[in-house]
Amino acid sequence: AAASANHADLAGRRVVVSAGGTREPLDPVRFLGNRSSGKQGIAIAEAARERGAHVTLIAANLEVAEPEGCDIRRVSTALELQAAVTEVAHGADVVVMAAAVADYRPANVSEGKIKKDQSDDGLTLELVRNPDILAGLGHAEHPGTLLVGFAAETEPDDDRIIALGRAKREAKGADLLVVNRVGWNEGFASDENRVVVIGRDGDVVTRAHGTKQSVAHDILDVVVAEVTAVTT
Ligand code: CTP
Ligand code: CA
Repeated sequence: AAASANHADLAGRRVVVSAGGTREPLDPVRFLGNRSSGKQGIAIAEAARERGAHVTLIAANLEVAEPEGCDIRRVSTALELQAAVTEVAHGADVVVMAAAVADYRPANVSEGKIKKDQSDDGLTLELVRNPDILAGLGHAEHPGTLLVGFAAETEPDDDRIIALGRAKREAKGADLLVVNRVGWNEGFASDENRVVVIGRDGDVVTRAHGTKQSVAHDILDVVVAEVTAVTT
């Protein structure tokens, strides 16, 4: 699949990729976060650029170096990510939501560092739901924009993973959903990945495994086929 990198088959296309993981502040020194390194999203951004696209990368707390040649917008929280994606999604040919977005954020952000209370031995945090950015895009009218979602599942069974992916794609109104299995030792910091791509009819469009770079190109092969089918 890496050979397709030479084809410039995304030349003239505008591709938006969100990558990394959001951080939701509790106070000036603490946050709720997740283990997403941003590697798979960055690999997609780089691969799209290699294939000729103009790429906007919405970077949420990346743990690896930012790619060259992309327009980069740094965000931290889910609300910041939503604002950035919403702004650049207009008129984009492809939007890839690879970022791990926090489902909840602390209801209150403390102005000062939260201090331990000597009189109790626990703390309960109140959280509120973040907006579902992918579903928001999926349910809005964005004619001509191919929407690609991701799903990270810890379910060990392959059929169950695919069933969850189908349901998620449907619920969010994404055109394609890339499902990968994550766990304590799988997925996040790794340089390799194994994914299943679910299409509009709930069918498995492709399976890919290997380096995150090669998986990125395999995902873009599907994207190119879809984008080309839409416009010709
Ligand atoms: N996503 C999003 N906004 C959120 C949560 C998730 O845009 N508030 C996007 C992610 O970027 C990803 C997709 O939705 O592309 C699926 O994320 P995931 O966490 O797997 O799905 P959820 O719908 O949040 O379901 P779950 O309860 O399994 O976490
Ligand atoms: Ca989630």
